[in-house]
Amino acid sequence: MTERVFLKLGGSLITDKSRPYTPRPEVIRQLAEEVREALDARPDLELVIGHGSGSFGHAAAAPYGTRQGVRTPREWRGFAEVAAAAARLNRIVTDLFLEAGAPVLSLQPSASARCRDGELVHLEMAPILAALARGLVPLIYGDVALDEVRGGTIVSTEDLFVYLAPVLSPQRILLATRVAGVLDADGRVIPAISPADLPALRPSLRGTRGTDVTGGMASKVEQMAALVERCPGLTVQIFSGETPGILSSVLLNAGVTAGTRIHR
Ligand code: IPE
Repeated sequence: MTERVFLKLGGSLITDKSRPYTPRPEVIRQLAEEVREALDARPDLELVIGHGSGSFGHAAAAPYGTRQGVRTPREWRGFAEVAAAAARLNRIVTDLFLEAGAPVLSLQPSASARCRDGELVHLEMAPILAALARGLVPLIYGDVALDEVRGGTIVSTEDLFVYLAPVLSPQRILLATRVAGVLDADGRVIPAISPADLPALRPSLRGTRGTDVTGGMASKVEQMAALVERCPGLTVQIFSGETPGILSSVLLNAGVTAGTRIHR
């Protein structure tokens, strides 16, 4: 039986968030090797990969407030710049993954995404399904999107996963980040979170550095907890993609202890 897994490579992992438009090619290469290793070892593994924008999209979006809406000619110009910045990082990720032998097919979310007041309500599924059917790994990324209410907005990789999860029913969503997991107020990794734990946890959630127009760790945890509540059997795991070997072991074995697990 195939296992379907969504994997996000966080923007703060694959870029240097303290420096605008700075990728971390050695890290991306390492992650690509680990993905290829896992795919080689597990022909039953069906992956969808998404990546964040880190110091590319966030740096471009911040001066225009693109997430909140796009109305003036200056803001539309900004929208185009954010799209270009996100695509530029995607080009780098795509090339490094293909070089490492991981068969990714880059699909640009903004080509078909439509939002309603910040919520993604449409994404073209045919290319994603066709890629999966042919043994390719669809590679998507946090991107701009047209919005019926706001004009334009930004969709994060998590927003894309939330849209795709009910359609593709993944067993797991993996978020590879720069930190070891979701940290408590004392900086220790919280091993497991259930949606019921959230009210007590909320005040202590932390973890993102630098500019983040899509909300940082606290909002990712909220969003993923809401998703596991809607999708029975889904587990979300947030762990470090920085330490070599963790990503491949998590991909190879659903039971591996690493970072934070969010499930019902
Ligand atoms: C952000 O996407 C997209 C843009 C700013 C264009 P994500 O929310 O998935 O990216 P990271 O992981 O926070 O960088």
